[in-house]
Amino acid sequence: MSQAPVPLNEPGLLTRMSETQRERVTFFLDGQALTGLRGDTVLTAVLMHRKFVRYSDESGAHRAGFCWMGACQDCWISSEAGDRFKACSTMLEPSMKLISGQGGST
Ligand code: FES
Repeated sequence: MSQAPVPLNEPGLLTRMSETQRERVTFFLDGQALTGLRGDTVLTAVLMHRKFVRYSDESGAHRAGFCWMGACQDCWISSEAGDRFKACSTMLEPSMKLISGQGGST
């Protein structure tokens, strides 16, 4: 399913309230360079910039995770290399290249 690019100029789902001094980490989401902080999960880093982490493969609906602890399968995301992983239980790494449109099975 092809998805239109989502502008990242809206507030994210999350707002960082503390630990703002951790080292910045650059990553790429659907080709756009973004920053998170070292120690963020992929889910946290993405949701700081927008309100969802991936599109549902079946309906195209936005998904932002549900349990945020690795149990519900709602946050599958892919890398440009084709790896699939749960965004809520994967730590952000520098230069990660993520794709939000091919992440999961629901
Ligand atoms: S949000 Fe439930 S497994 Fe990631």
